[in-house]
Amino acid sequence: MTTRVSEVDVRLVDVTKRFGDQVAVDSITLDVSDGEFFTLLGPSGCGKTTTLRMIGGFEQPTSGLIELQGVDVTFLPAYQRDVNTVFQSYALFPHLNIYENVAFGLRRKGVSGEDLKKRVGEALELVQLIGYEKRVPGQLSGGQAQRVALARALVNRPGVLLLDEPLGALDLKLRKQMGIELKRIQREVGITFIYVTHDQEEAMTMSDRIAVMNKGRYEQLAGPETLYERPATRFVAGFVGASNLLEGKIGSDGADWTVTLASGGVIRAPKTLGEIGSGGAIGVRPEKLSLLEPGQQSKGNTLQGTVVDTSYLGVITQYVVEEKGGLRLLVSEQNLDRTTRNDTWRPGEQVTLTWKPENGFVVGDAASA
Ligand SMILES: Nc1ncnc2c1ncn2[C@@H]1O[C@H](COP(=O)(O)OP(=O)(O)O)[C@@H](O)[C@H]1O
Ligand SMILES: [Mg+2]
Repeated sequence: MTTRVSEVDVRLVDVTKRFGDQVAVDSITLDVSDGEFFTLLGPSGCGKTTTLRMIGGFEQPTSGLIELQGVDVTFLPAYQRDVNTVFQSYALFPHLNIYENVAFGLRRKGVSGEDLKKRVGEALELVQLIGYEKRVPGQLSGGQAQRVALARALVNRPGVLLLDEPLGALDLKLRKQMGIELKRIQREVGITFIYVTHDQEEAMTMSDRIAVMNKGRYEQLAGPETLYERPATRFVAGFVGASNLLEGKIGSDGADWTVTLASGGVIRAPKTLGEIGSGGAIGVRPEKLSLLEPGQQSKGNTLQGTVVDTSYLGVITQYVVEEKGGLRLLVSEQNLDRTTRNDTWRPGEQVTLTWKPENGFVVGDAASA
């Protein structure tokens, strides 16, 4: 094992990758800590895989610097880096049994005998596949095959494990199970994971920190809670969870930012939430909104509107409410203390929407985002 010279395990400084005149990765700078579960989250084509491949050594940056454990590896080939990769396609050897699939890399390194047996055994135990040693990949389910791929990547105990949409081929239920499993495995082995996904729920479940990427850059790098409660840009607000964005004329009133909507309604958010700038907006998550009978008083932000859609989703009921100026807001109410659905708001009903100003968030100028 490499001696750790720094708490930072992976460092990218101004890393750019161009393919012809297309910029796939646009000047990314970030640090990943030793033992962290770090995720690159973003839509297809935003540069996640390219970033991961440069960290793994499968692709060279056009410019910038990559360090692993404090050592410049920018031009070091993949096999000389203390890094392993798990891809979405498991790439198992179909003719080798599970034991030999996991043992393959170790054998090539000259590990044999009891040492080999012990290390393969430990890796299979970690992914809960003891008893499957003699099977071949064709006799495994998708989830099991992905576990073998994981065991094979972990058996060498690399300093960093890169995972590129490893659960993408699994169905939703299995994906959720494997997500929880992956997090457990990462905690047990203590290896730095850099995980790539376009699925925000997956990212939120597993990650210590998430870089939300858009067009070759990341717009925000933070823990799941901060990304959700305090998204910094319109893109992050829309990509991580659902948001209502209130656009209008920006103003300032003492300790509050104000947005005057087209309908004339004024919405507030405390300045402690961040800088809004001239092109900014106030946002609020659907579950932070409450529905009141028209005329009921509230000290918070209020908007008058009409219910246009109601969906009962079990845990919550979701409403679409159209505000006087035509703005549509998504509201979710938890279904607590209900034995019938009689108290559900119905389309056409007049309501007052309300929320505490400090439960909103502000997104900055589009230009600076
Ligand atoms: N080898 C390549 N040659 C040319 N363009 C590429 C190559 N690899 C990726 N790209 C382009 O770079 C951009 C980022 O791709 P990628 O990193 O695969 O995105 P993601 O993994 O987020 O979907 C895309 O527009 C893609 O078409
Ligand atoms: Mg990709």
